[in-house]
Amino acid sequence: MNRARRQLLGCVLVAVVLFLLYRRRQSGADVNVPPPVTPEAPEIPAPENPEEHPHDETKPPYLWRDLPLRFPPTVIELLPEGSPRDLPGLQAGSEHVSRITLWHQQSRKAAVKEAFQRCWKSYKNLAWQTDELAPLSGLPQNGLGGWGTTLVDNLDTLWIMGMHDEFNEAVEAVTQIRYEDTQSPEINTHETNTRHLGGLLAAYDLSGDRRLLDKAVHVGDMLYAAFDTPNRMPITHWDSHRAERQEEQLAEEATSPSEVSSFVLEFTRLSQITGDQRYSNAAHQVMVRLQLAQDMSKLPGMWPVVLNTRANMADSDKFTMGPEADSLYKSLPKAYALLGGRLSMYRTMYEKATRTVASHSLFRPMNAQGKDILVPGSVQVTMTQNGKPRTHLEPQVHHRACFAGGMFAVGGALFNIPIHRKIANKLVDGCIWASQAMPMGIMPEVYEAVPCASQTSCPWNEWHWKQEVWKKENTVNPDPSLDADAFIRDHRIPRGFIAIPDTRYNLRPDTIESIFMLYRVTGREDLLDTAWEMFETIQNATRVENGNAGLVDVTDDQGETGHTDLMESYWMAQTLKYFYLIFSTPDILSLDDYVFNSAGHPFKLPRLAEMEKAFELQ
Ligand SMILES: *[C@@H]1O[C@H](CO)[C@@H](O)[C@H](O)[C@H]1NC(C)=O
Repeated sequence: MNRARRQLLGCVLVAVVLFLLYRRRQSGADVNVPPPVTPEAPEIPAPENPEEHPHDETKPPYLWRDLPLRFPPTVIELLPEGSPRDLPGLQAGSEHVSRITLWHQQSRKAAVKEAFQRCWKSYKNLAWQTDELAPLSGLPQNGLGGWGTTLVDNLDTLWIMGMHDEFNEAVEAVTQIRYEDTQSPEINTHETNTRHLGGLLAAYDLSGDRRLLDKAVHVGDMLYAAFDTPNRMPITHWDSHRAERQEEQLAEEATSPSEVSSFVLEFTRLSQITGDQRYSNAAHQVMVRLQLAQDMSKLPGMWPVVLNTRANMADSDKFTMGPEADSLYKSLPKAYALLGGRLSMYRTMYEKATRTVASHSLFRPMNAQGKDILVPGSVQVTMTQNGKPRTHLEPQVHHRACFAGGMFAVGGALFNIPIHRKIANKLVDGCIWASQAMPMGIMPEVYEAVPCASQTSCPWNEWHWKQEVWKKENTVNPDPSLDADAFIRDHRIPRGFIAIPDTRYNLRPDTIESIFMLYRVTGREDLLDTAWEMFETIQNATRVENGNAGLVDVTDDQGETGHTDLMESYWMAQTLKYFYLIFSTPDILSLDDYVFNSAGHPFKLPRLAEMEKAFELQ
């Protein structure tokens, strides 16, 4: 049987099974059909005590797929059929870039690869198959389930950088991961999904190695078990052992939009590849609920930082583009592209979200350089006495919110919204400004800036800035005699900044990610030089013997505060990958062929996947 027929047969089988499951739910009252399993009446045999069965090498691998569902899906929506729509081309092409700049790219790319190779070697020598290497102590760390996060997260980077021997060795090691075993009492399903499932799928999409697909299916089946709650909302901080023992599972009362929406890209891609639509349906149903929540929140269009997924509630009053919500916003245009433009729902969600974000969260920071830029802040909604909502901008900016420039660039091009390209340019320039303004030239985790009174004209006002610093510090530590000048000097606060609540730099990718996306969309040549300067700055400041380490304080250019003993797996998997890609020719992982998940893993878009399939069948 050829591949196409096998896939067709697979699809038909899945459809039949889904239909039977659906019928079974529909006919719950029928005497001949056993009632659906409910938490009150579990038909499930008493769990075995896992302690009594210590890990046995000869035992076949545990199959999450065989775990009976307590709450099978009641709604089944299959992936849209038909050929993908012709989406507008996102990439500008490289014709804008001068020869001399292109020539520079070769050595820049080589320098990034060298930085990667050095870290990879340390990981291999000191922390092989563990989650992360602590670069100062040289010790392995297992804070993310103990399944070799750095290993899985970097398969595609190895492939992209042409390190094929290392890639093969890594794939061999990946086949030994036992996702059925974890020492962690709790798994973060968002991180496992984006880094592990996403990493495996991207590496499979690039290399076609079946062993990676098998692993991806295994991880997908495991994560699918976290959706087995009464309302089918996934558990984000998940006790996998409970699920294995088939105990009752409930969605959380407090989770974030980022975490709960996490699955849409990975599960869609997994369903596209395998033909098994359980995954895409599960993730899509979450997005359907989130679409309702988007309209019902206190700031319609945006999602609050806390969601009660157990009760399907989204009524808290703080809104941000930062860590609690970033992946959700970012996934909307990507989900639209990954589905070949066949589901308008994601476009609608993107348009509503960006309208609210642009009018409430983005602000122009007053700056001494007089730059016309934008940065994303948080919004607090309060109720006035007559029950009307009032929004209040909190000018606190997270490093992670720097994704927004890339999102507006991609969304603007995909949906043909010219103003979004303008916003994207200003947002990326805002992130570059906040980096360059810091004594070390690197943006901190969190800073606060002074919002301009007017978007159109915003002259620098030294007195106003100092007054804002004074006011802010006095709300934290009331002291009417505070000398603002001395405070600014002692705390090394750069001009234009009110406070730096979190001075660390954790090797984050978000700024270079957006610079990369904007460069690919617009071809803006100055971004290449900026990216190179940024790479050198970061490399010089974070390079340590066994890799690269986070910084304690980016305002400390005397180097007195030093490093944190942390090299997050995303340093290599995202930060270095985006630096490498921006210095590569634009046809390498073109945004017209691939969509990057929120952990930087590229998935094939349907048009490319279909073209390749047609080529294979010939
Ligand atoms: C980084 O260090 C190199 C080598 O010491 C030096 O040539 C370069 O100017 C530095 N770059 C930046 C941006 O700090």
